[in-house]
Amino acid sequence: MVVQHRRIGPVGIGVLLLLLIGAAVAFAVSAWSGIGQPSNAIGGPFTLTAAGGQRLTDQAFRGKWMLVYFGYSSCPDVCPTTLAEIAETLDRLGPLSARLQPLFITVDPERDTPEVIDAYVKAFDARIVGLAGTAAEIRQVAKAYRVHYARKDAPDGNRRAYLMEHSAFVYLMGPDGTYVTLFAPGRGQGPDEMASLIREHLARSSSR
Ligand code: NI
Repeated sequence: MVVQHRRIGPVGIGVLLLLLIGAAVAFAVSAWSGIGQPSNAIGGPFTLTAAGGQRLTDQAFRGKWMLVYFGYSSCPDVCPTTLAEIAETLDRLGPLSARLQPLFITVDPERDTPEVIDAYVKAFDARIVGLAGTAAEIRQVAKAYRVHYARKDAPDGNRRAYLMEHSAFVYLMGPDGTYVTLFAPGRGQGPDEMASLIREHLARSSSR
């Protein structure tokens, strides 16, 4: 049996090189466009529990813009401030706020039952819905929204007095559930800026 070793030759090498360069460019472009589209990276399906034991998925809010925040009812500072700012933002939006569904998802499923978290947020604004879940459900939705949270035990060892460290962005999701933008109220983006940016996004989408 004769095995033929075909020599590639200069033309073949040139073609191979072009193919390799083409593949490298295609890979770089796809990686770059991935970075340019954070929409694929934030948000996604969830199943959580509202007050009264009602199980809600992200699908329940389709058609409305979602304003999503993660925190917990025992939070000493950031959550109450942010909730007050979300309430203020809704007030500034006036009738437009009816197109928004503000959601507050607990990162402390051990202490925040659906009743606890919903009563907590309703004290700031009746339009906000508080959502709880099992530890696994909270882990899943936090991961989808790229939210970091971690338990910080109290120095005196009191098991119920722990704090939860957590990221504090407010996410604006479109009526189809996809990520639009995020706000950082803790870094100076107050109700004025949130309301005017939300107004712009809503106006842009209804003129399409
Ligand atoms: Ni907090």
